[in-house]
This record gives sequence, C-alpha cells and structure tokens, in this order.
Amino acid sequence: MPESRTSESRMSGSGGPQGSGPLLEVSGVTKTFGHGRRRLTALDGVDIQLGRGETLGLVGESGCGKSTLARVLLGLERPDAGTVRFDGTDPFALRGKELLAWRRRVQMVFQDPFASLNARMSAADLIGEPWRTHRDVVPDAKAREKRVRELLALVGLRDSDAHRYPNEFSGGQRQRIGIARALALDPDLIVCDEPVSALDLSVQAQVLNVLSELRERLGVAYVFISHDLSVVRYIADRVTVMYLGKVIEHGATEDVFERPQHPYTSALMSAAPVLDASRVSGDREIQLKGEIPSPFDIPSGCRFRTRCPRAEERCATQAPPAAVRDAPGAAPHTALCHFPLAAA
Ligand SMILES: Nc1ncnc2c1ncn2[C@@H]1O[C@H](COP(=O)(O)OP(=O)(O)OP(=O)(O)O)[C@@H](O)[C@H]1O
Ligand SMILES: [Mg+2]
Repeated sequence: MPESRTSESRMSGSGGPQGSGPLLEVSGVTKTFGHGRRRLTALDGVDIQLGRGETLGLVGESGCGKSTLARVLLGLERPDAGTVRFDGTDPFALRGKELLAWRRRVQMVFQDPFASLNARMSAADLIGEPWRTHRDVVPDAKAREKRVRELLALVGLRDSDAHRYPNEFSGGQRQRIGIARALALDPDLIVCDEPVSALDLSVQAQVLNVLSELRERLGVAYVFISHDLSVVRYIADRVTVMYLGKVIEHGATEDVFERPQHPYTSALMSAAPVLDASRVSGDREIQLKGEIPSPFDIPSGCRFRTRCPRAEERCATQAPPAAVRDAPGAAPHTALCHFPLAAA
C-alpha cells in the first residue's frame, strides 16, 4: 500500500448534524415487485443497524434481496412498509436542499468498474463529477485539482493518473477510481455491492485493503455486499445473512462464522470452498441442496425448510422464533430457527 499524502481531515463536513444514535437503522422493511397476484417479495421485514465507522457484511444466495436492500439504503427504492432512519432522519421524507444534503452522505461502489465509469471521461473528471451536483463541496478549480490529487492518493493512485482514461487502467485501478469518486462527497456511508467480485483474486485483496484503510482513516461506514464469505469475514464487523428476502441470522462476524446458529448459514459456509473444512464439523456439516424456492411463492413457516435437513413438521406451520445467543462484548447473535445449531 502506498503512503498517503493527504491530510487526514474530512474535507468539508457532510452537512447535517452528527447524532449520537446509530448511523443507520432499518426496521421491518418490506419491498415487493409486480402486480396483483403476481407479486414477488424481495424484502420481508428486514431489520439492520449500523454504527458510525462500522462495516456490516450482507450475504446470501443470488436473488435473496441484497441489491434491493442496497437500493433502499441509497434512497433509490421506496419500501412498501417499514422505516429507514439515517442519523435519525427518514430519507424518504426529505425534499429539496435537505434531500440533496442527505444524498451526499450515502454513496455507492458498484460491482463492475468497467460498466460504471464513463469511458470518455478522465479519472479527474470521473472523480469530480459528483461536485457538479453538489457545487458547494469544492469552491473552485484549484481546490478541485487539489482534492482530486488527495483522493487519488487515498486510494493508492498517482497524481499523473488524473489525466488518464478508464481504458488505460487495470480493473483494480478502475475500482480504485470508483472508490475515490464515492469518497468525493465525504460520505458517512458507502454501500458496496459486490465491489471486488469482478476482480482477479490478487487484486481483490488490494482493493479490500484500500477499503479497510479508508475506514480507519476517515471513519466511513460500509454496507458490504458479497457472495464471497471469505471477503465478508475479512472486512465486516457484523454479518447479516439473508434468505429469500428475510434476515435469518445476524451477529458479530466471528460469532457467525465460528458458531453459526442457522442451518442455512452453516450450509453456506460448507459450500464456501475457501473455508477451512476442519472448522465445519459434526452437526454443522449441512449441505445446501435443491433450488431456492420462487420469491413469488415463499414457503409457509420457515422459508428455508424445503432445503433444510433439520426441518420438522412445525417448520412448515409456524414462523420460526428468534433464537438469541448472547455474545460477550458484542451485539446479540440471533437466528430465525426452530432448531438452531448449538454453539460447539
Ligand atoms: N425492479 C425489479 N422488478 C422486479 N423484480 C425485481 C426488481 N429488482 C429485483 N427484483 C427481484 O427481487 C429479488 C431480489 O433481487 P436482488 O437483485 O435484490 O437480489 P440479490 O441478492 O442482489 O441477487 P444477486 O446476488 O444475484 O445480485 C429477485 O427475485 C429479483 O428478481
Ligand atoms: Mg445483487
């Protein structure tokens, strides 16, 4: 990692008072798509909480609602029910200047650095593009140039990279530009949707290091979406596991990885090739088999029961209760399951 040449101070504040409660609080968020009887449930009563400077990892199979939740957090998708509070404020109730000020505070890093950067813009223009909308952030051309240099250094690029175009960079470098651009407005939260999935393994590690270093320096919080459990284990403080639109397990990263309670989480881990197989033992060796049910027709009771080797009759008729395991010094570790796995 190159030495940073930037000042550590946050540039111009991100507007709005910094409250003392959680940065983000999502309660009971439900989102459906479609019409009439042909409606699918993408999110079903989702709760998440995130503190300032924390990283929440979001995992689950394709279609479980991760990107839909990301879009809700970014204010791009309005939930059908439930509440989103960002620093105590409902972003969906904001208008005009207040909405603009809030938009600065939540930014996004996309999966595909090839598709998300306009090929005809230089790195400097790409990084500074958000300042066109948020004009007060950088007062003049000189400040703008200086800030671009700072941002390039923060993500491990050089001054001279400012005038290069996306096709002149590698995938990892492009993703660094995407990250610098997300930082241009000095946000409190960056939603990263599969930010390293399109990159080679060796480059993934470098980009992850950039992200975790930025968190240390700037105190920025992340919601970090990935289907790669090893990536989430590396970067996240807490992990939320989703299945068919519902949060089915949540806890501190090490608790969830070392002592999963939900058979689904355990199965996901058994399926992950990078994990040490010796860690997955005894009753935790649960194979993930069969197809994910249709989100148009979610199973009654526990939605995972159709694929769960531990399922019994009651799993089909009763919604699973929250099994709560206290974790010393950390948030409680909860799982929605009639028959949670014991802490081995
Ligand atoms: N705009 C939309 N209209 C209709 N259905 C949608 C829309 N957006 C998402 N969905 C559906 O909602 C469900 C959740 O999709 P989402 O993109 O959030 O999943 P995901 O967890 O991000 O999956 P992946 O890992 O493949 O990116 C899927 O069944 C998807 O088909
Ligand atoms: Mg997605």
